[in-house]
Amino acid sequence: MNESRFTLDDRLPADYFTSTLRADVRHGLAEAPRSLPPKWFYDKHGSDLFEQITRLPEYYPTRAEQEILTRRAPEIATLIRPATLIELGSGSSRKTRLLLDALTAGGTLRRYAPLDVSATALEEAGQAICRDYPGLEVAATVADFESGPPLSDEPGPRLLAFLGSTVGNLDAEQRQVFYRTLSLALSSDDVLLLGADLVKDPAVLIRAYDDAAGVTAEFNRNVLHVLNRELGADFDPDAFEHVAVWNTEHERMEMRLRSRTAQTVKVRDLDLSVDFGPGEDLRTEISCKFRRESLTAELKAGGFTVRQWWTDSADRFALLLAVPT
Ligand code: AVJ
Repeated sequence: MNESRFTLDDRLPADYFTSTLRADVRHGLAEAPRSLPPKWFYDKHGSDLFEQITRLPEYYPTRAEQEILTRRAPEIATLIRPATLIELGSGSSRKTRLLLDALTAGGTLRRYAPLDVSATALEEAGQAICRDYPGLEVAATVADFESGPPLSDEPGPRLLAFLGSTVGNLDAEQRQVFYRTLSLALSSDDVLLLGADLVKDPAVLIRAYDDAAGVTAEFNRNVLHVLNRELGADFDPDAFEHVAVWNTEHERMEMRLRSRTAQTVKVRDLDLSVDFGPGEDLRTEISCKFRRESLTAELKAGGFTVRQWWTDSADRFALLLAVPT
């Protein structure tokens, strides 16, 4: 019965994981400074570790965003009266429930359209939401949000949520492309709901990305397990130290894996051999932190006008509503 309200549309090419991962690794490991895109953290184990991170005492962004959502969801529902809630990078859809509660109570919402690269996450979260929200259609799409969300047939007005400050994983140039693509795809009555972590005391940030229990360190090293499994690489994860750095110039956190010694790693499926010097870093993630003025300006440049700006009681995190200009 629930099945009929749930659909899963897989729009990733069949060879997405191997071909994109291969290209990313080939580019990222070949040139100095070495880097990998953060999306490869999120296999099953990595997604579980991230869920654990969101419950750590040091990792404040999830709780701060939840505080704002809890307080503002009823306002969002009355302001926008959306027929569809689209969520980019929905993962476990846990925070989404705060929105869904308010939006379904408002009586306008017909469809929830989560989008993620993980079919299993969509399947699990989607079925659970179907069960808990009778009358709601759940139309899940397996896709990479960077290639632009499939919006065409969703009833409007549409509320497009991009939460968790995942936008901070993109650099300034990638964010411009993302805003542009999105603002062009949206209609005039659609609204973007964006979660953004704010610039703050670097000590607080560093603790959030280097927790005492070592969960973030394990999350960071997980990408090496992914490369070993998917590409026949021979990384020894213990030969790399987890490092969380505040980059003052770009106002972003960076996670790196620092080679403890001089070592050579082989990536069998790519016929690639990579030399690491002692102390050499492999950057695995950027997590940009934002200020109100510059975020408003970059959204403006990307085709969005900010309409509402809300923060948590400690001013650590922002949730904003923006409309295509
Ligand atoms: C969900 C991607 C926004 O950058 O804070 C958590 C991922 N990395 N701890 C973030 C993450 C290290 C998280 N994002």
